[in-house]
Amino acid sequence: MNVKTAYDQWSSQYDTQPNKTRDLEAAALRETLAGMHFTHCLEAGCGTGKNTEWLLDVATKITALDFSAGMLAKARARIPSPRVAFVEADLLGEWQFAVGSYDLIVFSLVLEHVKDLDALFRKASGVCKPGGYVGELHPFKQYGGSKARFQTGEGTQVVTCYTHHVSDFAQAATRNGFSLVSISEYFDDQDRATIPRILILLLAK
Ligand SMILES: C[S@@+](CC[C@H](N)C(=O)[O-])C[C@H]1O[C@@H](n2cnc3c(N)ncnc32)[C@H](O)[C@@H]1O
Repeated sequence: MNVKTAYDQWSSQYDTQPNKTRDLEAAALRETLAGMHFTHCLEAGCGTGKNTEWLLDVATKITALDFSAGMLAKARARIPSPRVAFVEADLLGEWQFAVGSYDLIVFSLVLEHVKDLDALFRKASGVCKPGGYVGELHPFKQYGGSKARFQTGEGTQVVTCYTHHVSDFAQAATRNGFSLVSISEYFDDQDRATIPRILILLLAK
């Protein structure tokens, strides 16, 4: 299903249905960025604001962007902070919303819906200094068939996804001016004998 349509439909249940990927990425982001401080964070694909709320603890202001009006409505209702500017825009279009620069760009569970990583990292690199965070469904899970999906009265809806290998993320970032600070993997129940669920890249410029 088309990504924007899918998230508009998913928005009413995104926060309330069990979702291990959503929850583990939330934990990973908090652990990765704990203790850091940023002036202006761009949260690309903020969804219902699962991470926006916590990012307010580490960033003075946040531009929280999403192209799904449904997801954004949930985020706006959840976070009535004057320090968050919500923007409805498509990351794949021109970044006209980007005025000035950001010292952190967050991509959480977004890049699996983006075919051309290079084009996105090029735009991110143009407005970001010094850092970036990527938290994604681990490609190893995708190799086994995992995809963003949800249930409606008409059955299981599968959101359009692209499989990017670990090297694809790293190389698209480094080709576009970022360097790789760290790479981490998160496992269900912290069981390292299983296939990792979440891949985290911390980037710098
Ligand atoms: C799986 S949700 C993740 C939301 C949030 N980051 C989180 O971790 O809970 C993916 C979000 O990315 C947004 N998204 C996907 N592609 C996008 C695009 N091209 N432009 C803007 N938002 C996009 C979707 O609308 C959705 O809200």
